[in-house]
Amino acid sequence: MNFPFTAPPSPEQIRADTPPLDEYDSIKPFDGHKPIFNGSFDHQLKTVLAGIDVDECEANGENAFFVANLAEIYHQHLRWLRNLPRVVPFYAVKCNPDPYVLRLLAAMGTGFDCASNGEIQAVLNLGVSPSRIIYANPCKASSFVRHAAANNVGLTTFDNIDELYKMKKFHPTCKLVVRILTDDSKSACQLGLKFGAPLEVVPRLLEKARELELDVVGVSFHVGSGCYDPGAFSDAVNRARRAFQMGKDAGYTFDLLDVGGGFGHDNFETVANVLGPAIDEFFPDADFAPGGREVQGKPNGLRIIAEPGRYYVHSAFVLASNIIARRDGAKDSVEEKGDNIESPPDASVPAKPEVMLYQNDGLYSSFNCVIFDHVTVHPKVLTINHKYAYKPELASPGIKTCSEDEDSQLQPCSIWGPTCDSIDCVRDLVYMPKGLKVGDWLVYEGMGAYTICAASQFNGLRRSEVRYTVGDGDDAFIVRQLMMKTL
Ligand SMILES: Cc1ncc(COP(=O)(O)O)c(C=O)c1O
Repeated sequence: MNFPFTAPPSPEQIRADTPPLDEYDSIKPFDGHKPIFNGSFDHQLKTVLAGIDVDECEANGENAFFVANLAEIYHQHLRWLRNLPRVVPFYAVKCNPDPYVLRLLAAMGTGFDCASNGEIQAVLNLGVSPSRIIYANPCKASSFVRHAAANNVGLTTFDNIDELYKMKKFHPTCKLVVRILTDDSKSACQLGLKFGAPLEVVPRLLEKARELELDVVGVSFHVGSGCYDPGAFSDAVNRARRAFQMGKDAGYTFDLLDVGGGFGHDNFETVANVLGPAIDEFFPDADFAPGGREVQGKPNGLRIIAEPGRYYVHSAFVLASNIIARRDGAKDSVEEKGDNIESPPDASVPAKPEVMLYQNDGLYSSFNCVIFDHVTVHPKVLTINHKYAYKPELASPGIKTCSEDEDSQLQPCSIWGPTCDSIDCVRDLVYMPKGLKVGDWLVYEGMGAYTICAASQFNGLRRSEVRYTVGDGDDAFIVRQLMMKTL
């Protein structure tokens, strides 16, 4: 099967490809789906809250909700193109499979890293060509492999011999990418415990692949999700180069390098400034451009892809939650757990929660990221004393304290989810204003990655829904057009 790679479109191309539309407001890109609004996070939050009366609403009327600003994803894509122009992003669907997110990314020309049959189907259903998918799971169910074969998904990763036998049996023409083990010790979520072949094992894997007449085309790695050491990327590229040589020794000519995920929102430029030069050093154009001596017979030369997840969606989602209950005089039994504790703003304030706030989304739902993604979330005040008070520019708790205003004074609180399980603690200790009442709202920024996708409905509670906007900036129009683009 052909595996065409084109460079992602430039911003100019995106603009040129998006003819103006007459309609503007609340366009639904999918039949029966939700509208997309205009306006900032702030505007959307204010609008939604204006329509909720917590004293009168129906059951679920005050549910927690996300606002997704799709323009953030567009901006992340432009940032990617600026900083890593040689690397084609294949969005890691697992991170947030929201259909609007997938659609926007598809319209911007990214590929997709799918981990399962369901993710492959979700991407194909958008009209995306199977050639834009990498089935990046080295340990796949046989039925999923058969489904991938039937749908012409022709690229996957492997890291063990059993997987090679499986591929031989169910999808023998699939192009294979050997996933190597790298140092993931500088990452929040380490994946090496489960996946990745150590370099010393790679020759044996390649020998077996040869024997089975399978087509291995390249090397992939993942430095771990939430990687905070750019050096992990350069080290991994170095290892990948050695694996390319192993490929050559086994009689293959590799032409695909997959640098995986692990890219963050805050340190992206720093990582790109290490990764880009590392690729140039270990895979120089002189050897790997079309016609280069390392890629003889591969007309496109070396193709480089990545599997970013968190990078694209982290900042695009905020979550508003309602304080449904409050217990003054907190229980002594609250355990304090290292990272989840904030130091008191004032040393005279006791470092024990005085108030327990119960909100209507927790660890069993969107805040599963506290457990699975090892994050500490930072609540900000959205309303206080039932008055809208969100100041996006202020850090958590998002309020200026004022000595004359008792309500704005901070007190040590713990924040809990809505289930009947005591593990459902979102923050053990955080300083929030005294004026927060039952019925007030909190907001959490940066809630796009590894949140909704792993949310359960434990205790009969609904998952928080998403309200979409294209933002209020100059690019809102382009993003709206991209969402409407025929794929
Ligand atoms: C194979 C693979 N690729 C990509 C990703 C996305 O990683 P990140 O969100 O850190 O970019 C993951 C995350 O677990 C993964 O397992």
